Amino acid sequence: MTVTDVGTRAGRVDDAWFAEVRELARKRDAVLLAHNYQLPEIQDVADHTGDSLALSRIAAESSASTIVFCGVHFMAETAKILAPDKTVLIPDARAGCSLADSITVDELRAWKAEYPGAVVVSYVNTTAAVKAETDICCTSSNAVEVVASVPAEQEVLFLPDQFLGAHVRRTLGRTNMHVWAGECHVHAGINGAELAAQSAAHPDAELFVHPECGCATSALYLAGSGAVPADRVKILSTGGMLDAARASHAVTDPATAHQGKTVLVATEVGMLHQLRRAAPEIDFRAVNERASCRYMKMITAEALLRSLRDGTDEVHVDPELAARGRAAVQRMIAIGRPGGGE
Ligand code: 13P
Ligand code: SF4
Repeated sequence: MTVTDVGTRAGRVDDAWFAEVRELARKRDAVLLAHNYQLPEIQDVADHTGDSLALSRIAAESSASTIVFCGVHFMAETAKILAPDKTVLIPDARAGCSLADSITVDELRAWKAEYPGAVVVSYVNTTAAVKAETDICCTSSNAVEVVASVPAEQEVLFLPDQFLGAHVRRTLGRTNMHVWAGECHVHAGINGAELAAQSAAHPDAELFVHPECGCATSALYLAGSGAVPADRVKILSTGGMLDAARASHAVTDPATAHQGKTVLVATEVGMLHQLRRAAPEIDFRAVNERASCRYMKMITAEALLRSLRDGTDEVHVDPELAARGRAAVQRMIAIGRPGGGE
């Protein structure tokens, strides 16, 4: 389970805002989806909060006629590719992604020309044009399974995130996999030195590390060198972090066993809101408190209200591009699903 359903609201917005958003969503027959990095009030007012894979699946299956995607632009585009007949809105279309910007479709075409016959695996953090040149998309929660689904003798071009690519290559021990040198400015800024300093300051803490982080290699080094016991280092997607927090909460008496437990979290700071809700007895701490995605934070309370009132900003994907990218995105949402893997 990687999705949180609509719940109690964060204390920063008033009741009137919350009620108006819910009422406008009802009138528009809209489902509100929020990524785990959204502002707390946006996460709380949404119908579903989750990671990029879970939200794509909900977008594909929702019966609502409008999807309001509180996330970044490639996520809303992915929803439109999966649900072309629905109206897809993003409250602020300027919410881009530095990782998606790290490869253009022309760069991908040139790379493919160097490796004819290679299978192209693109992280979902890519533009619709790049998806149209892709064989299978993946997210951080199913990247390993997606690459494992490619026959061992076939070469793989993995893009655009170098840290996620390195994590997949290391996990599968796959040598015929070429990785694009892109990165997300937020996750690349969470570095190994910070992680080492934090884990020295909290020697009993567990580490939750998103595979996009520049410190993922360092986390594995800390585990390999014995500085942090290997079972305390977890490389997880945002949805995986929540699953781990919920599992930890479920198996213990929150009043006793986990008092004093600390988890160091290496990802965008918006993640802390859901983690603290899932396991309030655990002390979740950001490895880097400045790791905030300015694009995710463009979806403000005002922007969401405007979007629902005025129907802005509508997301359009060229139908020909969407048709070419759809199979790659559909394979992504099938792989890693219980009973749906390839
Ligand atoms: P998840 O796939 O773990 O949701 O993370 C995606 C991400 O980094 C979006 O910016
Ligand atoms: Fe893109 Fe990074 Fe922001 Fe995620 S955190 S939306 S990968 S820039």
